[in-house]
Amino acid sequence: MKNKNAVAKHMLHGGDYNPDQWIDNPEILEEDLKFMKLAHTNAFSIGIFSWAALEPEEGRFEFEWLDNIMNNIATNGAKVALATPSGARPAWMSHKYPEVLRTNERREKMLHGGRHNHCLTSPVYREKVVVMNRKLAERYRNHPALMMWHVSNEYSGECHCPTCQQAFRNWLKEKYATLEALNLAWWGPFWSHTITNWEQIESPSPIGENMVHGLNLDWRRFVTDQTIDFYENEIIPLRELTPNIPVTTNFMADTNDLIPFQALDYSKFSKHVDILSWDCYPAWHNDWETTANLAMKVGFINDLYRSLKQQSFLILECTPSGVNWHPVNKTKRPGMHLLSSMQFLAHGSDSVMYFQWRKSRGSSEKFHGAVIDHDRNPNNRVFKEVAEVGKNLEKLSDIVGTMPDSKVAILYDWESNWALNDAQGFGLESKQYPQTLQQHYKAFWEKDIPVDVITKEQDFSKYKLLVVPMLYLMSKSLMKRFQEFANNGGTLVMTYLSGLVDEHDLTYTGGWPKKLQELFSINVLETDTYYPKDTNAVKYFGKTYNAKDYATILETSQQVDSLGTYQQEFYQGSPAVTKNIFGKGTTYFIGARLEDNFHKDFYQNVLDELQIVPPFAIKHDKGVSIQVREDEQYKYVFIMNFTENSQKVFLEQEARDIIADESVSGEIILNAYGVKIVKTKKDTRMGR
Ligand code: GLA
Ligand code: ZN
Repeated sequence: MKNKNAVAKHMLHGGDYNPDQWIDNPEILEEDLKFMKLAHTNAFSIGIFSWAALEPEEGRFEFEWLDNIMNNIATNGAKVALATPSGARPAWMSHKYPEVLRTNERREKMLHGGRHNHCLTSPVYREKVVVMNRKLAERYRNHPALMMWHVSNEYSGECHCPTCQQAFRNWLKEKYATLEALNLAWWGPFWSHTITNWEQIESPSPIGENMVHGLNLDWRRFVTDQTIDFYENEIIPLRELTPNIPVTTNFMADTNDLIPFQALDYSKFSKHVDILSWDCYPAWHNDWETTANLAMKVGFINDLYRSLKQQSFLILECTPSGVNWHPVNKTKRPGMHLLSSMQFLAHGSDSVMYFQWRKSRGSSEKFHGAVIDHDRNPNNRVFKEVAEVGKNLEKLSDIVGTMPDSKVAILYDWESNWALNDAQGFGLESKQYPQTLQQHYKAFWEKDIPVDVITKEQDFSKYKLLVVPMLYLMSKSLMKRFQEFANNGGTLVMTYLSGLVDEHDLTYTGGWPKKLQELFSINVLETDTYYPKDTNAVKYFGKTYNAKDYATILETSQQVDSLGTYQQEFYQGSPAVTKNIFGKGTTYFIGARLEDNFHKDFYQNVLDELQIVPPFAIKHDKGVSIQVREDEQYKYVFIMNFTENSQKVFLEQEARDIIADESVSGEIILNAYGVKIVKTKKDTRMGR
């Protein structure tokens, strides 16, 4: 069960360290080393944006400064995630080789500046990156501080230059072989958009083509593939010279609402990294939701990213205080840093790393949170809370590599999300696919039931319950896999707006797909879309629940149990929630977008039927989250209070508080934002 790819035997604590900003300040670099110990840190990501320092002019490399830093960190007893600097390039390169610059979707060539803005295809850039990475690997392959490769930084964006257009056309030729096949997939004759020569194909653009959904979908797939291709090219020298050093690249979330990053299909990208890592910046203490609601979203996205590789992962960046890019950059209240750090661990992280170690003096990130503030004072509140996290992490080594044991999975799909957002129809603002998944996840989060958030190519058979909300794009082969899952005894839940288009974003004809009709013994006749102020209600086991945004009008066959019925509209009295027996399994269809209370009651009934119970029983009020990681012998239980009040919780079983090193049972009190981590020996009599 333990992660064999875990990079260390202890929890990592540290973060992005940019010594090249302080190279002329030896006293600062010395202070760093001293403070690193005081902060109980042990790992640093170095060199992420250091290209200009490493190669100040073409072909002249300067590594001495980095040698010193690496040596000092090793002497200090810490390790390094050494970065490849491709996330930002030196000005000389853009000036000498303009082809490395990105072209945007309006076909405007970008000037030098910013970061994360290179052409993904440029042969010159790819070559320069490999030269640089080879030098780094040659120089540091046997360095005692080298722990991991931090490849580039937060890959994102796309390039529309002529070289990328050609690469896209080649990608399409490989995929479709003939223009006939391409025109069929892209529904060519619509608005006379038939392609008669590969050279006519252009990436989507607001000043050109952006209404051909097959093209849009293929372009997004291509951008993911091209990014991976760029990355694979980057790591050639690393794989060659340091075959035993794990490789990662830091993934991210979209917006401060913490939905999964949209632009790249991480289900594909994750296969190319040894260990998944990502950067998490929740807007704690915001003014639009409760702390608990945000904690639920943090849980959801961490469960998704953990499930991508089905192994423990790393938080490579978070902030010890505030960030600089949210609309409002509020600092974490006392206690929140420890709580939110432990939450990362609770969902499978083996690290708490920061952006950034020391605040810079100039440019756009000078007010971004950091371990060391401009005051350079290790006694300030933030520094002390960081040190506190470090001390806690030192006691949690046994948890490294362990995993939750989830019987429930929710399915997230990047491609379906792209296609659904492209769809002109339904409610243009109300599709909200990732947010809808969060709503379903919330029911389990509040019940302390561990969840894997998986993707469509993963194995379903290890789960008892598979929840598939709003899977708009669905291939026939995937439908067949859902059938197999249910047939073998699995319980499947699906909702409105599912199975409407195939893998080319072409609608199915002749009604809702046959395989889905068989699976649920229903047919989808219409999908009704509501205005924001419209509502309906669904009666389910005697209680009435609000419905909004979407309602599916269903036709059911004899054998189906109609568990819920619409209370209003011209389809009043018709089925809204159905249950069907399929082979050895059970399938449910939820026809409308229903309120949280419905999910709470509905999923409780399903869990009861499947006899799924929390892995560790604790009685508590709303806002307290319980998450469990396990190895063969122990359960490690995280008890986290995401409320502004102290909370009484009741442990039905004795356990050992790992931090306080004492035994606990019965009632315990958690302060506001309090957290406890306890362990308990696995007991087969507990029924698991
Ligand atoms: C991202 C980047 C970092 C830094 C932080 C600020 O995660 O990777 O370099 O800019 O954002 O939050
Ligand atoms: Zn390009």
